[in-house]
Amino acid sequence: MNKTFKPSDSPIWDELAEHRQSMQDFRIAKAFNEDPERFNKLHLNTAGLTLDYSKNLVTGETISLLVKAAENLKLQEKIHALIAGDKVNVTEDRPALHTALRDFSGNAPFNAEVDAAFSRMAELVQQVRSGQWTGSTGQGITNVVNIGIGGSHLGPMMVTDALKGFNQGKVRCHFVSNIDSTDIHSVLESIDPETTLFIICSKSFTTLETLQNAKTVRTWLEAKLTGASLDVSKHFLAVTAKPEKAGEFGIPDTNVLPMWDWVGGRYSLWSAIGISIALSIGMENFNKLRKGAEVMDRHFESSALNQNLPVILALLDIWYANYWGTQSQAVLPYCHHLRYFPEFLQQLAMESNGKSVDLNNNPVTYPTAPVTWGTVETNGQHSFHQLLHQGTGFVPADFIAELNPGDDEHHTHLLANCLAQSNALMNGKAHNDIKQELVIKGMTEQDAQHQAMHRQIPGDRPSNTIVFDRFTPEILGSLIALYEHRVFAQSVIWNINAFDQFGVELGKQISQEVYKKLVNDGPNVGFDASTEGLIALYKNAKK
Ligand code: F6P
Repeated sequence: MNKTFKPSDSPIWDELAEHRQSMQDFRIAKAFNEDPERFNKLHLNTAGLTLDYSKNLVTGETISLLVKAAENLKLQEKIHALIAGDKVNVTEDRPALHTALRDFSGNAPFNAEVDAAFSRMAELVQQVRSGQWTGSTGQGITNVVNIGIGGSHLGPMMVTDALKGFNQGKVRCHFVSNIDSTDIHSVLESIDPETTLFIICSKSFTTLETLQNAKTVRTWLEAKLTGASLDVSKHFLAVTAKPEKAGEFGIPDTNVLPMWDWVGGRYSLWSAIGISIALSIGMENFNKLRKGAEVMDRHFESSALNQNLPVILALLDIWYANYWGTQSQAVLPYCHHLRYFPEFLQQLAMESNGKSVDLNNNPVTYPTAPVTWGTVETNGQHSFHQLLHQGTGFVPADFIAELNPGDDEHHTHLLANCLAQSNALMNGKAHNDIKQELVIKGMTEQDAQHQAMHRQIPGDRPSNTIVFDRFTPEILGSLIALYEHRVFAQSVIWNINAFDQFGVELGKQISQEVYKKLVNDGPNVGFDASTEGLIALYKNAKK
């Protein structure tokens, strides 16, 4: 029995551990046979999304115990505190108010600042999309390049790509994040300097990758613009919490949209960091995205824990990570619009909850965020699903699918595959059944016995399925908010701060020292033999 998972003194954790023990022989398929109402009991609807969580290693008792555990940790109070703007990011002494950015009630904290920012953003979007905004040579804008990384890239890129079917305008958005110049050059090759607007998105305006790319772009514009010299104010916008730093780069105040320290980078697509989304699909559609998220926020805030989609998902995550020892979690969108969703979720889940010290400043003694991974399907079926079906451990998976994108034979096959995969993971295929089939086909008993060993599928591999009718901005907004809140609810149970990310800093600092050594810039520090050896190889290669 796992007695180590005890985020509080309550006996509930031991009850859960005992319950887990009693589930050793639980079979999901058998549970369906025994209870024809299982699907009806274990699915929830809200904000256009249906969550079917019936294909999990759970009984009604499991859910009750998990909910009791969440109550013990005052999850509902903590959800209210998040949305009310309490300083839930305790290590940085500030709130995490992404919900305020999609609150249309007028009552959210910082409402006036948020409204003002969106008004300015709407003006800029209108000017660019209508052709009123012109570049240095007087031509309208046809291409926008978002330069940012992490949250200043993944959210805007994922959403813009997902909703490109809603782009009725002439503006094409590109996204550059990598410090590897291959990234920026491959975009620069495809665009015209006269008709391109660059948006430098960086909350801190100190991020190496973003500033290096911004510098390269300015040099490129200076070199490539003919017939007029570069007017920075016509080709650059910035979104940042540090406007003075954008000013140092040469971007005038009028071209700077605000960000705030109370919005975490991985939640920033809801702020003006999402301007590339709005430039692509228009402000109206951007607002629909926000509205979808707002519906999920209201649900998260007001629903009972056992009816609450993000909470149920989070509790299942805890169940597997802390009672079944799973170390990763797959996200499998059967919806091409969501092809970058797993990548977006990696930052959301792992930068938020990849923590090992709790809110009482003690080391955590139990696993926190499992590795989040996945890809758009059915591509994964032809690569890693082998491990999902027959690997030594199990990986809880989320299947995400659109039900009705319109008449399309491709889609029917896509959905059939989605439903088939979760079914196969759950049911598996027994050794004896396979052996029998092979013997009937003429194989000897002994060969069939061996073959069946390799072909049997254990089953009882749990999954959630999230479906919606049609993919729209509202649905995407709800879906993103669902995962954001799931991650927050996990953090409450793990008793960790989901909103800082100090772990990313050390590598950044060391890279500055390594850089100095690579370019022989002044006195430098000594590294370990491996790092020194690799630096020597670099220097040799450059000779
Ligand atoms: O290095 C991690 C990180 O700070 C993320 O949290 C953030 O989303 C990303 O870098 C980009 O930061 P910024 O928007 O300040 O450039």
